[in-house]
Amino acid sequence: MLLCSLLSTLAWGPSSVFLILLLLLGLTVRIWQRSHPWDIQQCFTDLTGKTAVVTGANSGIGKAVCQELARRGARVILACRNREHGQRALAEIQAASNSNQLLLGEVDLSSLVSIQSFAQWLLQKEPEIHLLINNAGICGIPHNTLTPEGLDVTFATNYVGPFLLTNLLRGALQKAGSARVVNVSSSQQVHGYIDGEHLTGAGGPLTFNQNYCCSKLMLISFTAELARRLQRTGVTVNSVHPGIVYTNIMRNLPWKYRFLFLLFSFFIKDPKQGAMPVLYLSLAQELDGISGKYFNSSCVITLPTKPAQDPQVSKSLWNATAQLTNLDKTD
Ligand SMILES: NC(=O)c1ccc[n+]([C@@H]2O[C@H](COP(=O)([O-])OP(=O)(O)OC[C@H]3O[C@@H](n4cnc5c(N)ncnc54)[C@H](OP(=O)(O)O)[C@@H]3O)[C@@H](O)[C@H]2O)c1
Ligand SMILES: *[C@@H]1O[C@H](CO)[C@@H](O)[C@H](O)[C@H]1NC(C)=O
Ligand SMILES: *[C@@H]1O[C@H](CO)[C@@H](O)[C@H](O)[C@H]1NC(C)=O
Repeated sequence: MLLCSLLSTLAWGPSSVFLILLLLLGLTVRIWQRSHPWDIQQCFTDLTGKTAVVTGANSGIGKAVCQELARRGARVILACRNREHGQRALAEIQAASNSNQLLLGEVDLSSLVSIQSFAQWLLQKEPEIHLLINNAGICGIPHNTLTPEGLDVTFATNYVGPFLLTNLLRGALQKAGSARVVNVSSSQQVHGYIDGEHLTGAGGPLTFNQNYCCSKLMLISFTAELARRLQRTGVTVNSVHPGIVYTNIMRNLPWKYRFLFLLFSFFIKDPKQGAMPVLYLSLAQELDGISGKYFNSSCVITLPTKPAQDPQVSKSLWNATAQLTNLDKTD
């Protein structure tokens, strides 16, 4: 009896009402975060005979994307920097998708030399590329952490690397007749600004993790410039924010952030859901011919911040990056 009344007061006391409300709120956030306007089941794009290249394929969003592409028959090149991690992911994707069309490639996107040799290897194997997904990215590394080549490692990985790789694969993309480039950017771009000097660890001041935001903004700016340069070639390029997704991306941040991320992991997307916006840009037929756009995680075309909308800014950033990567010599 006592237990019963205790339970009933507990169940209806103000604190439990509060708890229940909190739980409902939490569930609403979870459903809202995870709901997706695009129904992948209704997309029948078949990728048999098509070649797709996905960077950062061994983890998080990249791995989930590869699985779906492989399931649809694509030949998928998993571009990873760590052979062992790549092989493990390949075996997992193979088992899940039943595909025998997977190939592991090694590339460190923070290294121009590594990208050059990866591109050379790749072009020999795959003269035509139908889909390039620049997904690899890092955050949480302090600005002015330089690579052996003298680039800031965050800008190198998130922006200069994709810039060079995309440009080196341009011929193979054009050869495919109709091809798509998808850049995985971030809504954090709104906290960024464009300063070409950042690429080499110099430039204007940056607050905590703002180098991540700036590098993602540059990626969007470049998407726009590349789209202008690829008009009427059959190649489209777009960038997308995948949403907030529970992956390894926070691994370099201080433990306080990682702990918060873990706490919220219940409410945010898992990698499979985070892959949806990326897959939308890769597969949806209604995007044929659409290029140079930035999509938010609801798959809606959204304007990025002012600097990324300015063709003049994009052009001079392109020039600066082309010089850094020695692209002007081959372009
Ligand atoms: N998670 C989010 O909430 C969120 C939000 C907005 C945007 N994004 C973007 O989504 C993309 C995928 O991230 P994720 O969340 O799936 O994180 P993740 O699980 O950490 O995956 C990142 C991938 O990039 C690879 N990578 C990092 N540096 C590299 C380098 N120098 N060379 C080659 N590969 C490298 C990683 O390889 P290793 O395993 O070897 O490190 C890993 O495979 C990133 O561009 C990220 O900025 C994520
Ligand atoms: C994406 O943009 C559309 C249109 O501006 C907006 O209605 C939607 O809420 C946005 N989605 C997210 C997740 O911000
Ligand atoms: C970029 O470089 C090209 C050719 O090198 C030049 O014609 C153009 O004026 C430059 N644009 C900007 C904005 O710096």
